[in-house]
Amino acid sequence: MISKKMEDALNQQINAELYSAYLYMAMSSYFEDKGLKGFAGWMKAQAQEEQYHAEKFYSYVNECAGRVIFKTIDAPPAEWDSPLAAFEAALAHEKKVTGLIYDLVNLAREEKDHATDNFLKWFVEEQVEEEDSVREVIDELKLIGNGGSGMFMLNRELGQRTFSPPAQAE
Ligand code: FEO
Repeated sequence: MISKKMEDALNQQINAELYSAYLYMAMSSYFEDKGLKGFAGWMKAQAQEEQYHAEKFYSYVNECAGRVIFKTIDAPPAEWDSPLAAFEAALAHEKKVTGLIYDLVNLAREEKDHATDNFLKWFVEEQVEEEDSVREVIDELKLIGNGGSGMFMLNRELGQRTFSPPAQAE
């Protein structure tokens, strides 16, 4: 069982995760338009990961006999000034999501909802990884600057990324 307050907050998080998927698909489309297929593929894998996050919350709410209610997903931006600007926006977004996860943890603790607190641990760890993987690309982009053979190599490297759901996940 979860409280109504917790259920509402988890529903809100499902919306945030789906928005994240939407945002990264928009970034993928931006990179497709720039002819950077590797970057586009990386963002697409990121969007699939966000869809998985939303599904993980969805399953949890249902397991707790709660009800998932979908809300409107805001439209993401369509343009960024440069590949670096897009990844910086992605990092800012991930930091925001980390804050949302921490708020959920705080609420679970306030409500003495140990099950939800425990469920959220996976997301707390995941956010460290999420921020780190975006930061890594930002660092590489800063090193190589815009254009040239560095971009070609990075585009190829990022294109290797694929998403598969973690084996342990239910
Ligand atoms: Fe679902 Fe990128 O946080």
